[in-house]
Amino acid sequence: MTRTDPSSRTALVTGGIGGLGTEICRQLARAGRKVIALDLASREERVASFHAEVAGFGGAIAFEPADVSDFDSCRQLVERIEQQHGSVDILVNAAGITRDTSLRKMTPQQWHELMRVNLDGVFNMCRHVVEGMATRGFGRIVNISSVNGQTGQFGQTNYSAAKAGVHGFSMALARETARKGVTVNTVSPGYCDTPMVAAVPDEIRAQIVADIPVGRLGLPADIARAVAFLTADDAGYLTGVNLPVNGGYFMSF
Ligand code: CAA
Repeated sequence: MTRTDPSSRTALVTGGIGGLGTEICRQLARAGRKVIALDLASREERVASFHAEVAGFGGAIAFEPADVSDFDSCRQLVERIEQQHGSVDILVNAAGITRDTSLRKMTPQQWHELMRVNLDGVFNMCRHVVEGMATRGFGRIVNISSVNGQTGQFGQTNYSAAKAGVHGFSMALARETARKGVTVNTVSPGYCDTPMVAAVPDEIRAQIVADIPVGRLGLPADIARAVAFLTADDAGYLTGVNLPVNGGYFMSF
């Protein structure tokens, strides 16, 4: 097997059993990648149904418990996976949470919990995979940002700040790794058909959908397609890019 054989590439997907993460795992596996979904072990029921959902991939998608907010456990995890699989070639940071409330009511806990997952998690994972990718001369990192990082959203000062930060982080890292064959990009989903968006109050969600030019929520597959594109072996000239996938909800130049 050569290094350019897609099946020789191992991909980690944080939030891998989540609303977007599951479909990202599937599309990467369809592209021939060996995929490891990372997510909290505490989501026991979801872990069980995830195994059933990906059973048809003949072992190409595995699950490993992980807490992306914990720097040392991310290091141990990446070391273990590199020992078992030889390398981590693709990293997709899709782990994310919301703690929606207006700033005047937001507690430090709601701020810090969100930052630890949505922003520290990106640092913790990238920090541990980037050295190996640079040494081997190949890597694809995609960080999932959000349209709300681009526009801000009422009730999301924490989330919007973290998601804007994710893109700043990605541009900076893209510069650091560009000469090493490692690309770093963000995908900014709009409102998608996921449990996270289902939790938005009905009236607010209906108004948002009415404002989407394409006329519907995004599908996880719409986002996964962008991730598969940016992680392709021949996507080496695309770096520092933010790829919005929002049905036209926010257009910018
Ligand atoms: N726009 C304008 N005004 C709003 C508003 C909104 N979206 N939400 C609330 N208000 C008004 C309230 O009616 C209230 O008005 P009065 O003072 O006149 O009564 C005032 O603002 C104050 O509201 P609160 O301080 O009580 O707000 P809250 O703390 O209860 O929070 C909220 C409101 C539940 C967060 C609500 O604003 C909301 O759901 N916002 C949208 C959140 C959202 O879109 N989250 C996205 C989750 S999915 C995701 O994040 C994925 C992705 O990447 C796209």
